[in-house]
Amino acid sequence: MACLPAALPALALRRWLGLGLVVLLCLSLGYALEKKVVKSKVGENVGLPCCHEIPSSESLHNYRVYWQKNTTEVVLAYAEGKKICKHKRYENRTEMGTRNLTLWISPVEILDNGPYQCVVQHLRFSQNSIVLCDEPVTLFVTADFSKPNITAEVSANSCESTEMVVRCSSHGGFPKSTISGALNNISVVWNVTWVSESSLSLYNVTGELWLNVTEDVIFTCSIENNGFAKSTSLLLKKTNDCVAPAVPPPYNVIAASSIIIVVFLLAITLAARYLARHVCSHCCKPQDSVEEGVKECMKPPVSYKVTSETSSL
Ligand SMILES: *[C@@H]1O[C@H](CO)[C@@H](O)[C@H](O)[C@H]1NC(C)=O
Ligand SMILES: *[C@@H]1O[C@H](CO)[C@@H](O)[C@H](O)[C@H]1NC(C)=O
Ligand SMILES: *[C@@H]1O[C@H](CO)[C@@H](O)[C@H](O)[C@H]1NC(C)=O
Ligand SMILES: *[C@@H]1O[C@H](CO)[C@@H](O)[C@H](O)[C@H]1NC(C)=O
Ligand SMILES: *[C@@H]1O[C@H](CO)[C@@H](O)[C@H](O)[C@H]1NC(C)=O
Ligand SMILES: *[C@@H]1O[C@H](CO)[C@@H](O)[C@H](O)[C@H]1NC(C)=O
Ligand SMILES: *[C@@H]1O[C@H](CO)[C@@H](O)[C@H](O)[C@H]1NC(C)=O
Ligand SMILES: *[C@@H]1O[C@H](CO)[C@@H](O)[C@H](O)[C@H]1NC(C)=O
Repeated sequence: MACLPAALPALALRRWLGLGLVVLLCLSLGYALEKKVVKSKVGENVGLPCCHEIPSSESLHNYRVYWQKNTTEVVLAYAEGKKICKHKRYENRTEMGTRNLTLWISPVEILDNGPYQCVVQHLRFSQNSIVLCDEPVTLFVTADFSKPNITAEVSANSCESTEMVVRCSSHGGFPKSTISGALNNISVVWNVTWVSESSLSLYNVTGELWLNVTEDVIFTCSIENNGFAKSTSLLLKKTNDCVAPAVPPPYNVIAASSIIIVVFLLAITLAARYLARHVCSHCCKPQDSVEEGVKECMKPPVSYKVTSETSSL
């Protein structure tokens, strides 16, 4: 059982052999029908409608149904009521309505994005099956971006301004969307970086802005999500106030004066101890004082003399 989009050659043949008018009609109809779009989000269950509904008088046994993607790969095919082929990537994710032939895909993946086509053949005359319809339907799979997350990193600070890097990121969305930044409701030009493993996988996005904040501003980051926006705001504060530097000095003065006072007190204490030691050296050495006392006591000879003189007198 080859999983080839077998219905197409028959279809093409029929078209080429068919009436020009019908082809024209088909083309114009086809153009209108190609605009049929089914939207779904990653992980959801989606049903792609087919162009034919089997009447209650008949059953799937009388039909051959091909659900194919991008006219090149068969997603699912039924013939005479039996599944005749299935696609590896869609395995266990697809089902088909037995009456309205709707193709159900669950859970939907981003790779499922693209044009699909249901081709229905009636097998009443098995040699010459009739193509009843082949209708394209485009599946548009999206994924919602997360609520933006804003971070602000101060890189330099001065009295006049605060330089900062503001980053806003959001992840897990598809397809690429619009991420915008605004300062007090005025939109800004910034650097936007998209990251994804491939062009058909979820995107992460980061917006980056270098700012010189001279006054408090509100930064808002918004990401468009399938028609509506998710946004986050952050108040960017000018962290260094010019008045602020005036406040610290008193503290420094207090600290400095405390130090001076402490040093002064220490000096006094040391001086007092030093003096005390010197005084002690005069009064607290008993032998010295005795010697001096003795010396002093030796003076009396003078007085003695005097006395002797006086006595001699
Ligand atoms: C097909 O039938 C199923 C129920 O069997 C229903 O849920 C679904 O809406 C139908 N789809 C269309 C396109 O009619
Ligand atoms: C359809 O298939 C062709 C050939 O395989 C490929 O080049 C093209 O990009 C596909 N288109 C879509 C929309 O997947
Ligand atoms: C599909 O389901 C069957 C039975 O549950 C399992 O054996 C098989 O591995 C599944 N295939 C995939 C691709 O998940
Ligand atoms: C925002 O980003 C920061 C830093 O990357 C992280 O710590 C924080 O959890 C994130 N917040 C949310 C709500 O994701
Ligand atoms: C921004 O705009 C919103 C409504 O659009 C308004 O409520 C808000 O006050 C504005 N903020 C500033 C800072 O202009
Ligand atoms: C996107 O962000 C998510 C969550 O932060 C992370 O797990 C994932 O690896 C990122 N994807 C890429 C392609 O960087
Ligand atoms: C964008 O990035 C470049 C280099 O990383 C930087 O010089 C420039 O200032 C950025 N632009 C904005 C608007 O932040
Ligand atoms: C920010 O502003 C200050 C003062 O206004 C200036 O000195 C500084 O160079 C500015 N920085 C940037 C990145 O513009």
